[in-house]
Amino acid sequence: METQPQGNEDQAILALEKVNLHYGDKHVLQNVTMNIAAHSITALIGPSGCGKSTLLRCLNRMNDLIETTRIEGSIKYAHSIEINDKHLDVTELRRKIGMVFQKPNPFPKSIYENIAYGIRIVGRTPKSELDDRVEDALKKVGLWKEVSDRMKDSGMALSGGQAQRLCIARTIATKPDIILMDEPTSALDPMSTATIEELTLELKENYTVVIVTHNMQQAARISDATAFFYLGELIEYNPTKLMFTRPEQKRTEDYITGRFG
Ligand SMILES: Nc1ncnc2c1ncn2[C@@H]1O[C@H](COP(=O)(O)OP(=O)(O)OP(=O)(O)O)[C@@H](O)[C@H]1O
Ligand SMILES: [Mg+2]
Repeated sequence: METQPQGNEDQAILALEKVNLHYGDKHVLQNVTMNIAAHSITALIGPSGCGKSTLLRCLNRMNDLIETTRIEGSIKYAHSIEINDKHLDVTELRRKIGMVFQKPNPFPKSIYENIAYGIRIVGRTPKSELDDRVEDALKKVGLWKEVSDRMKDSGMALSGGQAQRLCIARTIATKPDIILMDEPTSALDPMSTATIEELTLELKENYTVVIVTHNMQQAARISDATAFFYLGELIEYNPTKLMFTRPEQKRTEDYITGRFG
C-alpha cells in the first residue's frame, strides 16, 4: 500500500502516528497515521467492521473499557498531550473530547439534570450560573424553545431527534474542545437528521468534530475532510470535495459510489 496524504500537521488538534490496535489477537487498526485539523469536521467512512468506531474510541480512550484492547503508536492532542499515556487523567480527557453515540442515550433524569449533571461534576457552580449554562447549551442545539417549559420532564420522554440534540447539549455544556460523533443520525428521521447536520456545521466554529457516518451524502454535505478505511487501514484521506469528485484510489471510488460496503 502506498503512503497516503495524512493531513496538515501544523493545524492538527489530533495527530495519530502509527496507531495499531488489537482486540485480543484481532488486529483491528493497522498503522493509522492521520492529522485531524482543528475547527473542522472530519468524516470517517468505510464498510461495516473496518474500524471506524474503534478509531473514534481511541481518541478519548473509550477502548480502555474493552478488556482485550492493546494499543500501540501515538495520539497527540493539541501537540503536547499523549492520549495513550497511561498516567493521563482519563476523566478530564473525556471532558475535553466528548462523545455522542448512535442511539440517543439521555440519562433517566430530568431534561435539566441531563445537562446540569456533567457541569456539576466538573466543579462547584452556583445555581444561577448552572441555570444559565443549561439554558445556553439547550439554545445552542436549538432545543430551548421546545423544552423550556418542561425542564423537569424526563429526558427519556423526548423524541429521537430531540434526545440526540439533548445529548449534544450535554456534551457541549462541559466545554469540550472536540466532539466525537458515532453515526449520530442513523436512528433519526430525515428532518431530525437535517437539524443535527445544521447544528454540526454550526459547532465547528467553536469545536472540532470527528463524525462516523454510513451516509455518503451526509459526509459530502457537512465534512471538510474525509478518511476512508478498509479492513482497519486508512486507504485515503483527503479534502471532502476532492474525495467525492476525484477519489485517488479505486477502492474509495467503489465504496463512495455504492459498488460495495
Ligand atoms: N469489543 C470488541 N471486542 C472484540 N472485537 C471487537 C469489539 N468491538 C469491535 N470489534 C471488532 O473490531 C472490528 C472493527 O469494529 P468497529 O466497531 O470499529 O467497526 P465499524 O467500522 O465501526 O463498523 P460499523 O460500521 O458496523 O459500526 C470488527 O471486526 C469488530 O468485530
Ligand atoms: Mg461503528
